Amino acid sequence: MAGSYGCEGEDSMKILSVVGARPNFVKIAPLLREMAARPQIEPVLVHTGQHYDARMSEAFFAALAIPAPDVNLAVGSGSHARQTAEVMTRLEPVLESVRPDLVLVVGDVNSTLAATLVAVKQGIRVGHVEAGLRSFDRRMPEEINRVATDAIADELFASEESAVHNLAREGIPAERVHFVGNVMIDALRITRPLWQASTALADLGLERGRRYATVTLHRPANVDDPRQLHEIVGALHELARHLPLIFPVHPRVRARLACEGVTWLRPSEPVPERGLVCTEPLGYLDFVALVSGAAVVLTDSGGIQEETTILGVPCLTLRESTERPVTVSHGTNRVIGVAPRRIVDEGLFALAHRGPTPTAPPLWDGYAAARIVDTLLGAAVEVAA
Ligand code: UD1
Repeated sequence: MAGSYGCEGEDSMKILSVVGARPNFVKIAPLLREMAARPQIEPVLVHTGQHYDARMSEAFFAALAIPAPDVNLAVGSGSHARQTAEVMTRLEPVLESVRPDLVLVVGDVNSTLAATLVAVKQGIRVGHVEAGLRSFDRRMPEEINRVATDAIADELFASEESAVHNLAREGIPAERVHFVGNVMIDALRITRPLWQASTALADLGLERGRRYATVTLHRPANVDDPRQLHEIVGALHELARHLPLIFPVHPRVRARLACEGVTWLRPSEPVPERGLVCTEPLGYLDFVALVSGAAVVLTDSGGIQEETTILGVPCLTLRESTERPVTVSHGTNRVIGVAPRRIVDEGLFALAHRGPTPTAPPLWDGYAAARIVDTLLGAAVEVAA
């Protein structure tokens, strides 16, 4: 599929990638690595600054060997409208001056949609990685971002077959849709020796073979309503009577947990025998190490449902739906909702029973980024012809 691009001048293809939030960094890393291996591609990286704390941003750039961004829009936090609008306003002049051949966006965050809108209106082609996933729950901000991005982007890269079907159902022409696999799994594969060498477990006093669970929560539906958060945390406390639950806390949740009287692990303090313990957000390699050694993971994240599928770690998703059904059909994921009794029962069940052996979903082989870059080069040739 790859076209006949030279090394420089008009034969080169300038691809401007836009990232903003933590999961974006994981997805873009294998893509940038792949682009760096193709002399025909001139990559430009824009960080919107949606995530800005060192632990949410720089730590991921370092762990994943992502080059420093060429441009940082430094938009920071804000309401959805403000954050989206800031990305749009600040990206517009950057695109006008860089004039890329293609803008590459990943995932479903506000930065993804904002960048897509600006690029499309400037007549710049857009590729969307992780297109077509649908929770069918329009109360999720990410679902709006997904639907709107896919409606206007040009090249849609699907990580699982359900996404291909969703896009067909929405009337997107098949030639715009490419089933390529999952770049999150590329990142896991590429960094495997690094996360296997992480000292995170030893640092937490979790010697080999010790049973613990890992928790993450950050969805607005779960953490923004204090009553909802209180119920979930109550269930976690109950489960934590059986083993330690380690909860690296996203910054949006930190203040909200203040009323819950949770225990924070101090640096170099070992995880206790039992109980729910919170930590600062972990870097990518340490977090993957923590997930890979867990007896069970309780999460409302999308990406962690995918990572646990490949790592073979039981995953309980504290949501009513998943936009990643292949993690249930092939992987270790169970979508269990947020009823406290169910969280406890499912947690205990997962600890007591071995689930079915997961199988890797189609094309989750660690080579999705290569397929995407090949497709982009091929598609550009067709457009030029
Ligand atoms: C965003 C994405 C979500 C993704 C998540 C991964 C949207 C709509 N949501 O959610 O899909 O799963 O990233 O983490 O784009 N904050 C900090 N420091 C930071 C970043 C955030 O303190 O570096 C705090 C701020 O109070 C901010 C809040 O977290 O207001 C929420 O951040 P935001 O980027 O708006 O959404 P996330 O919850 O991180």
